[in-house]
Amino acid sequence: MHPLILLALFPLAEAKGWLSPVYKNFFEFPLPIPPIAKPVKTYDNIDYYEIDIKPVDIEIYPGKKARHVGYNGIVPGPTFKMQQGREAVVRFINHADRANSVHLHGSYSRAPFDGWAEDTTEPGEYKDYYYPNAQAARTLWYHDHAVGHTAENAYYGQAGFYILEDAQKNSLKLPSGDYDIPLALAAKRYNADGTLWDPEANGETTSVFGDVIQVNGQPWPYLAVEPRKYLFRFLDTSISRSFQLYAEADKNVGTRIPFTVIGSDAGLLASPVDTTQLDISMAERWEVVFDFSGYAGQNITLKNTGKVAADDDYDGTDRVMRFMVGNSVSDTSNNGPLPSTLRNVPLPPPKTGVDRKYTFMRSNGEWQVNGVTWADVADRVIAKPERGAVELWELENSSGGWSHPIHIHLIDFQVVGRTGGTRGVLPYEQTALKDVVWLNKNEKVQVLARYGPWDGLYMFHCHNLIHEDHDMMAALNVTALKDLGYDEKTSFIDP
Ligand code: C2O
Ligand code: CU
Repeated sequence: MHPLILLALFPLAEAKGWLSPVYKNFFEFPLPIPPIAKPVKTYDNIDYYEIDIKPVDIEIYPGKKARHVGYNGIVPGPTFKMQQGREAVVRFINHADRANSVHLHGSYSRAPFDGWAEDTTEPGEYKDYYYPNAQAARTLWYHDHAVGHTAENAYYGQAGFYILEDAQKNSLKLPSGDYDIPLALAAKRYNADGTLWDPEANGETTSVFGDVIQVNGQPWPYLAVEPRKYLFRFLDTSISRSFQLYAEADKNVGTRIPFTVIGSDAGLLASPVDTTQLDISMAERWEVVFDFSGYAGQNITLKNTGKVAADDDYDGTDRVMRFMVGNSVSDTSNNGPLPSTLRNVPLPPPKTGVDRKYTFMRSNGEWQVNGVTWADVADRVIAKPERGAVELWELENSSGGWSHPIHIHLIDFQVVGRTGGTRGVLPYEQTALKDVVWLNKNEKVQVLARYGPWDGLYMFHCHNLIHEDHDMMAALNVTALKDLGYDEKTSFIDP
């Protein structure tokens, strides 16, 4: 159709816009897959890795260079693929120009290796982190956590996948190898010269929603797939943007394609859950099986319906990536029906009666948790659960139009209640263990967890990293040791 006729047909078309320079290359570049990290040395039961944090120029807008800072100079960083029971030490060497602290998000790391915000490594220094890898199979990620600069560091590229595998999951014969693909979402904003719009230099204290949607660092990529099952590991690395994802075949727009959620932040669900929409907020991980077998020769577009704010009217934020389905399958292994039971999820024992309440609020121009900010050093430890205790926490969003994904370090929790907003507990949250929960506008969420396995000080905070830096973060101190009735040294190993 002639463009003028289109214009005439839609004279009142919604006035959308761009914050960044207009992007014209939708679905023209392939999805990059981050390389697998290789150990520098291996010993009997432990591997040693080195990761260089260093600047790199990347072309987001073709022909224009944007400075990033990435793990090993790539964005996202290399993917760690670890086996349960094989420990690791990773030396992170700071060759960037600001301090860093590395958090392995989702790991039961002991306090000195957890990426405490003030435990920073300066340019020219390194720190060795120890990771037990004792947990059951799950999708973790590593990212910066430096005090006051987490958003900036993560935004410029310090984020990557860390995938833990185990024998139980392998026995399920889920799609694997080339059919198991990590998808790191991100939303960023660029300047006219193609460089990143800098949140700190621009004094941003509320959010950077970003209008350039990326997957594994590439704006709006495509992925050539075969007409069979795939396992996608979704992770939202965005600073401030949540997504509500759905998929449509381009020749059948308006009909959402069903897919199946099989895993959450903390590994497999009890059984697969079919859905046509995946809600994913910052730092959440969802493992999802897509079956392309009925779509040979078609294009399927992954779209986003989630508006993050009233003014979220940007061109392009309604699309994420495209799957181009081929006509033949080169490998038919691990392509059978999904097992009806995935695993025995170690959910905490049920409990009623809220033990602690936390309100996430905006007051006096500050982002606060129960009136406290991270800068209130004397008051920021606002929970002291006994090690081994099961507690029910209520998280309340009283900040108006903002949403806050809340991450509690060290533990996995179950989302047992959600009221106040437009959603209840989502079907795929029911048997999920999580380490971050999306607290959307006006929502109140109840989470149940057993505290431990270690004593120590841990952070809990909003994972809108602009909020975290300004200063929506507090600490929990897992302290009073009581008789746990099990061996402390091995208790962190999932059943
Ligand atoms: Cu993903 Cu405290 O962070
Ligand atoms: Cu927040």
